[in-house]
Amino acid sequence: MTKILAIETSCDETAAAVIEDGQKMLSNVVATQIELHRRFGGVFPEVASRQHVLSIQPVITQALAQAGIDNVRALDAVAVTQGPGLVGSLLVGVNAAKGIAFASGLPLLPVNHLEGHIYSNWVEMPGKSGGHPTDNFPVVVLIVSGGHTELVLMTGHGRYRRLGGTLDDAAGEAFDKVARLLALGFPGGPAIQRAAESGDATRFDLPRALRHGEEHRFNFSFSGLKTAMLNLTRRLEQEGLDLQEPQLLADLAASFQQAVADVLVDKTADAASAFGARQVCICGGVSANACLRATAQQRFAALDILFYIPPFALCTDNAAMIGAAAYYRWQLEPTLGDSLGIDVYANLPLVGGEGETP
Ligand code: KG4
Ligand code: ZN
Repeated sequence: MTKILAIETSCDETAAAVIEDGQKMLSNVVATQIELHRRFGGVFPEVASRQHVLSIQPVITQALAQAGIDNVRALDAVAVTQGPGLVGSLLVGVNAAKGIAFASGLPLLPVNHLEGHIYSNWVEMPGKSGGHPTDNFPVVVLIVSGGHTELVLMTGHGRYRRLGGTLDDAAGEAFDKVARLLALGFPGGPAIQRAAESGDATRFDLPRALRHGEEHRFNFSFSGLKTAMLNLTRRLEQEGLDLQEPQLLADLAASFQQAVADVLVDKTADAASAFGARQVCICGGVSANACLRATAQQRFAALDILFYIPPFALCTDNAAMIGAAAYYRWQLEPTLGDSLGIDVYANLPLVGGEGETP
């Protein structure tokens, strides 16, 4: 059995987990910084890295204790997110991982954060069986987070072909910006979801961009939708309506959320049929969105395609997914463990070996 201690500090969550054989979650600790960043209306990089410095050691200690590990030498490797992300934040995790690996002689496994999100789909946690992906390739994966919107064809472990992505804002970024427009606060995704609960998603007809044409068949664009929301709210205010009136706010949030979910699911379903996918996975922070989950579940059930979406705890940033991705990549690249000299990268492509990379 292979036990990996995984560390993730790419943005504003300090996280550590112990994963067995790439799938079984023995512990998963996340210290979120949401409250710290709320007053800035977004993640403040310098504040994030300083908080990581304070949290990293207690979080790692807790992850090891919950997994019943009292000596790091009982582990087989240490994995850490190397990018993409905020450089100052990444450095804290990477330096902590290097320290443990150096002191204990364990291999150090660098992980791409996006590959981590992909593997969050197959992590087993209490009450949810992960389901091994091996028999179900090709898999179409949609990664939707605060920084990324990527449609990827996965033909095997570690084998990726980028099909498309956003031309402007990431889906999570669109949620965050529209939440600010509606004075809903940070982080925008959960705030919009809450506001939309009693909303009518059909009240406002919002654009679904790049739906037609070959060139951008698998690409996304959310800037038009954002502008449409801006123009709509201005018009409503000019008509004398109060945007904070609960039903109006709920209908605006619900209509926006449905517009995002529709394009994400349409294009993922189109890719799944174009490439004969045997499984579809959606992951990343935005995959926590109830409207997206329901829209996707309905669509892929109708298409009779196996559909995976992580449990809520694994949608947003966590270290369990980093441990899972590390395990599979280490199997593909046995020399990966000789990585004490690794650096961090704000932009790190998902290396796929299947042509174009994200
Ligand atoms: O994956 P993640 O935790 O960090 C990045 O790698 O970016 O994703 C964070 C993003 C934020 O933009 C946040 O607003 C969005 O995920 N998000 C949601 C929900 N929960 C988090 N978006 C929509 N609905 C949600 N329930
Ligand atoms: Zn992420």
